Amino acid sequence: MKKDNNLNTNKFIKSVWLIMDELQSADQMENALQSILEKMCVEYSCSDASLWLKHDGNQRLYMIASKGNEDNTGLSIAFDEGVIGEVFSTGDTITVSENEKDLFEKDHNIHAPNALIVPLKTPYGVLGCMAFSGKETAFDEDEIRIIENCSALIALDLEDKGFSFDVDLERKPLVSLRGIIKEFMSGEELNRILKGIDLDVYEGELLVVLGESGCGKSTMLNIIGGMDKATEGQLIIEGKDFSDPSEKELTDYRRDYIGFIFQSYNLMPNLTALENIEFIAEISQNPLDSSEALEMVGLGDRADRYPSALSGGQQQRVCIARAIVKDPKIILADEPTAALDFNTGQGVLKVIEKIVKERNTTVIMVTHNVEIAKMANRVIKLRNGNISSIRTNFHPMKAEDLVW
Ligand SMILES: Nc1ncnc2c1ncn2[C@@H]1O[C@H](COP(=O)(O)OP(=O)(O)OP(=O)(O)O)[C@@H](O)[C@H]1O
Ligand SMILES: [Mg+2]
Repeated sequence: MKKDNNLNTNKFIKSVWLIMDELQSADQMENALQSILEKMCVEYSCSDASLWLKHDGNQRLYMIASKGNEDNTGLSIAFDEGVIGEVFSTGDTITVSENEKDLFEKDHNIHAPNALIVPLKTPYGVLGCMAFSGKETAFDEDEIRIIENCSALIALDLEDKGFSFDVDLERKPLVSLRGIIKEFMSGEELNRILKGIDLDVYEGELLVVLGESGCGKSTMLNIIGGMDKATEGQLIIEGKDFSDPSEKELTDYRRDYIGFIFQSYNLMPNLTALENIEFIAEISQNPLDSSEALEMVGLGDRADRYPSALSGGQQQRVCIARAIVKDPKIILADEPTAALDFNTGQGVLKVIEKIVKERNTTVIMVTHNVEIAKMANRVIKLRNGNISSIRTNFHPMKAEDLVW
């Protein structure tokens, strides 16, 4: 017994030491927390861990750090959602045993078996919680005590440093979807493709949409772009209901608000690169200069070329120039790099990144490539007609640093 106690005391001291060391030495709090989770997973033989902190502004808990197969940081849940929400609102530890794991995995997207969720608690209140899972054996009483104490230590430091994270709650949504349902007839059968999508898209953000083929990504993009109508639900543009627009309102909206970049380039073959852009500029309300738009995508010297004399990547960049020349508020990009090789694709992404930064344009980009999602401000996943997750990238990667 005594020996065991010593063992646990040593384990506790070791854990405290590694936490203190990380908290003091890391350049960014997120990195320190990440590193703590990784080391605690080794120490307590867990495969997965996550750390969640509250954001009072919108009453949600955000995953700030995670260890596991997938980087899920930035995921958020409501204060009262699931087991994480329960630990947060009660301030009490929860353990999940092997035989409860199925329910736990399904409901909370955490890989059991043998999970432990402890609150991040100071004398002044609960800041969030930490979850550990994927342990071979159940957590014993001593381990639970130690992890609770470690958690208290982290909570005190977070409070002490006044750590906060930015989810930019002041922003007003440019586009909102509420309860969007879309059904298609397929032969005799009525298929519900979108089953009630709720989404806010903000000004100047790059939102990436991921999801399996056929899950409704293009359908959602077409509804946002006014190219298709929802079966049910509301499309709200800058606070105004746009669910049932007149033909004229729809045309104006598509012309003034939306730039579309498709996977296939569909340029006019008998017009030069510049003419393809001018053609759109002429029918736009407040267009940019066509040559400047071509310059922005790095094709100033190819203005007089016909599409057939341009490479795939160059044609795609003409398409981007054509979308930006209107100076739209929203650019919808449906797999803009799917047909391109790595270098060309990256060039296209750099242009998209530049438009978001320099013109504060909102870009909604559909892709199958999870690497590309790393440059987004937020990433949503569509699954079975619903949004299965929304993730905020606290530190989006630069397009030039992406590798695939
Ligand atoms: N006009 C239509 N009429 C009937 N069914 C349609 C129509 N448009 C889309 N669908 C169906 O809706 C589903 C979703 O299509 P959508 O093109 O939105 O998928 P996606 O997620 O963009 O797929 P991908 O990644 O392959 O482009 C598919 O099953 C498709 O067959
Ligand atoms: Mg598609």
